Amino acid sequence: MKTIDELLSEGVAGKRVFVRADLNVPLDGTTITDDGRIRAVVPTVRALADAGARVIVASHLGRPKGAPDPAFSLAPAAARLGELLGTEVAFAEDTVGPSAGSTVAALTDGSVAVIENLRFNPGETAKDDAERAAFADRLAALADIYVGDGFGAVHRRHASVFDLPARLPHYAGHLIATELGVLRKLTDDVARPYVVALGGAKVSDKLAVIDELLGRADRILVGGGMVFTFLKAQGHEIGVSLVQEDQIPAVREYLERAEKSGVELVLPVDLVVAGGFPDLKAKAPTHPETVAADAVPADRMGLDIGPETRALYASKLADAATVFWNGPMGVFEHPDYAEGTRAVAQALVDAPGFTVVGGGDSAAAVRTLGFDEKAFDHISTGGGASLEYLEGKTLPGLAALED
Ligand code: 3PG
Repeated sequence: MKTIDELLSEGVAGKRVFVRADLNVPLDGTTITDDGRIRAVVPTVRALADAGARVIVASHLGRPKGAPDPAFSLAPAAARLGELLGTEVAFAEDTVGPSAGSTVAALTDGSVAVIENLRFNPGETAKDDAERAAFADRLAALADIYVGDGFGAVHRRHASVFDLPARLPHYAGHLIATELGVLRKLTDDVARPYVVALGGAKVSDKLAVIDELLGRADRILVGGGMVFTFLKAQGHEIGVSLVQEDQIPAVREYLERAEKSGVELVLPVDLVVAGGFPDLKAKAPTHPETVAADAVPADRMGLDIGPETRALYASKLADAATVFWNGPMGVFEHPDYAEGTRAVAQALVDAPGFTVVGGGDSAAAVRTLGFDEKAFDHISTGGGASLEYLEGKTLPGLAALED
């Protein structure tokens, strides 16, 4: 895989460089609530601009339905990128239409433009190869060189991620190079004990990675909504908690496999429960109670791990030489159910080893709970992408940069 350093040493002055970023940031209206992904691509954009390239930054945001939708505009992200770069960033109001054409034509050496959300064009995510190829051809016409730096999207076989690099000289940006370096430390020659904390709502999203980690990790700590599928598989009452009934056989098999292989698959011993899901907008106080994990009352919903579990998980992380954490332990967006996630984040901060926070909600959680990002060795910008890498899958956006 050629990297941006090689490109910079070859020289890029006057060249139009298409940077596929992942600017898929959480928005509240037009306000960006976590700009981590925008900050992550700044080193690549700045290096190219400083070297005199004409930089075209492109990304998806959210999941619009293949047509323009103002709720998913990249305009706020473009404005934030400009603030972070300390320079004006032009914005094209379409992807491959007249606005993109004139915006790119107006770029001068060292200047930067963002084009509108790639998913406003159905060709970006099309399953049909020809439809994706047609869109990739039009994107390719905008640029001379491709730099892949949207790590969070490399698991998507989308036009700008997979088809476009085949049409232009292509290089990996600084962010992709950094993310890959970190993920290799979690897969090759891992320092032990290797402890993985997995949370999040759906066990189905984590099955493949649990399957893989049962052969690699020393301990797997389970939190979040997926806990209840495990507890139900063990025959416990889970009240009205979230459950994926169809995953129970798989989960049962993992519990047996962990037992046989000596991997510690650790489940909560107590839980914080309430009468229903809290209102995340009003954040009004609720009436949380702590109960034993095997005794959730029939009318209660589990929303966080309890205090004994927090201490247990902290002790399981205390000697970790390598930690990977993906997924909140509870509904951290509400203060009544944030303590489990806070405790695991703190345990990573205190752990002696190499600590990685794997993207998406857990990255947002550490920032919104007020942790200093520098207290972790790495906060990945890719949730799904880092999980699929750890599952051992070939990621289309990385494969496309290889050849
Ligand atoms: C993410 O948020 O994980 C990436 O930006 C990919 O987004 P997607 O799941 O909508 O493809």
